[in-house]
Order: sequence, then C-alpha cells, then structure tokens
Amino acid sequence: MQVRITLKKVEHQFSAEPGERLLYAGLRHGVPLAYECATGTCGTCKAVRVTGTIKNLWLDAPGRPDHGREVEALLLCQSCAESDCTLDGSPASTTRPRPQTLPSYFEAHIAEIASLTADVCLLTLSLHRPFHFEAGQFVLFSVDNLSGFRAYSMVEGYATSRPSFIIKRKPGGAISDWVFERATAGAPLRLFGPLGVATLRPETDGDLFLLAGASGLSMAFSVLDAAARNGHLARHRADVIFGVRRAADLFLVDRLAATGAVVTLALSDEADVALVRRSFPDVRVMSGFVHEVAAACLPTTTSNTIAFLAGPPPMIDACLRHLVVGARIPPTRIRYDKFS
Ligand code: FES
Repeated sequence: MQVRITLKKVEHQFSAEPGERLLYAGLRHGVPLAYECATGTCGTCKAVRVTGTIKNLWLDAPGRPDHGREVEALLLCQSCAESDCTLDGSPASTTRPRPQTLPSYFEAHIAEIASLTADVCLLTLSLHRPFHFEAGQFVLFSVDNLSGFRAYSMVEGYATSRPSFIIKRKPGGAISDWVFERATAGAPLRLFGPLGVATLRPETDGDLFLLAGASGLSMAFSVLDAAARNGHLARHRADVIFGVRRAADLFLVDRLAATGAVVTLALSDEADVALVRRSFPDVRVMSGFVHEVAAACLPTTTSNTIAFLAGPPPMIDACLRHLVVGARIPPTRIRYDKFS
C-alpha cells in the first residue's frame, strides 16, 4: 500500500506491507513521525485519516483519541492501511535527535532465560545479524499467534547479536506470560527496532543521574555500559537509584554496584530496609519511592546533570516533578521514554 502522510504541511510518501502498522512502516522509511511508546498507550502517534481505508488493530487502545469517538482519528502504531491512503499526522519534535539507525525487523531466537526474582527474568536473544542501537533505546517484541507488540529495553549499550532484556511479568501481559510459561531456548520471535530517543550519545556531557523502577533497570545498565566504553564514566560521576517494593523484588544489585556508579536502593516497604542493608553493606539503602529518594540524593548542583528515567508512568511523572520543579534540571537534560 502507498501511504501519503502530511506532517505540518510537509508531505512524505512511503509504502507499507499488508497488515504492517503505519508507524513502523513510516519510521523504517525515515519519516520523522511523533511517537513514544509505539504500543498504543501514550497517544503520541495520533493522526487523522483524509482518504483511504484504515483498519484499527486495537479498538480499546488506552492511547486512542477519545477511545474511538473521533471517527477519523487513529493511532499510527495501532492501524494498518487496507488501500492507498492519505493521512494528516504529527511530526516528531524538531529538538528530538534524528535516529542514528533506522528501525527494521529482526528475526530472533531465545538463547537463554535466567530467573532473577519470582516475576522478573533476564532474557537473552540470539539474532541473525548484529543489532545496532544507542544506549537507552528499546525494541518491540512480537510472537507468533500472540497479538500486539511489547516494548523492552536492551541491557547492553552497544551493538550486539546477543541482546538481553529484563522482563517483568505483567498481569494479563500476553508476551510476558509467554516468556514465563511457555518459551524455551530456541523459541522464535520477531523484533522491531531500535526505537526511542532517551539515549546517551557520544557528545553528551555531564554527571549521570539514573532513576529506575523494576525492569527499568535495563536502561541504567545500557547507559552505564556505553558510558564506561566511551570514557564518559572516567570524566563524570554516575548515580543510580533503583526502586522496588520489597527485598524479594531486588535483582542484579551486585552487577549494578560493579558498574562503578554510586548505587542507592529505594524500598517503598520500610519493613525490609534493615534486611537489605545487611545483605548489601556496601550500597546505600533508603526507604521511600524512587522520586522521594531521588529528592534526598540530588547532587548539590545540578547544572551539569543529565537525568535518565525508566519505569512505570506514575514513577516517571513523580520523578519529573521533582527533577524539573524541585531540582531545576532543564527538561532538555532529562531523558525518558514513557511506556508501561
Ligand atoms: Fe502510538 Fe504511543 S500510542 S506511540
């Protein structure tokens, strides 16, 4: 199908495969479309149909404009074209960095699944070719016979053909249920990526302040990995605040401490704080949610700070309020991709 999309008076034309989501088709052709989650929850990729037939792939997508009341409005990440069509969409912000690698589809197999907690595992994939991405980016998983895509961030900060991912089991999450219940070594899946602009680029300068909730720890590992390799960590301090509810939810703490970053564990359940202090005597342990602990741990001067946030949307929103209003870190120095 040929898709013609107008972004603020600039017309782009690209082709989409039958059944291919319009956002993914546009992005792989380099069209500067606005998006965040790429999975139907944020509403950023809203567009309006002008001509042609569009199929909506998820009628109840949380990000859908007015949940479908605006008849011609659609989400590019949840729609495909059934005929040549013309759309009116939103361009990516002009301050958004251009991607260094255009996203594409990858065939992958599971190489290994390592359990980390009762509902978190480390999944390593084997790809048929090296996967190039920037530290902090994410990729979409799709699995045969399961509908939809799910976003996961890479743990590594560099090109690899064996990327790994921290997977948290999500109630009702088809792909995380598949990983925990049925997937075995060798099982195939398909990836689309890399996506996301919350990245550490080689030209980035300044101290790192990384806030991670649960599986958002992937982003911290990825950024720290790249920062160690490109010499950033030799010049700048890095702080990581890793938030979970209880002691039993913690994972990869020793590996995190080995990165050289100053690590603080934030436990929202105060009852486990003493236990975790005994288990990790070399790591600071505080009680509170990530945003509360972040407020207590902020560097005295933040003019040179770059903050990275990864976690559930409520955590991101609460942290943003503290970082922008409380710590006065300019929004241009705060990087996050909000997806649940
Ligand atoms: Fe499409 Fe978030 S709803 S990018």
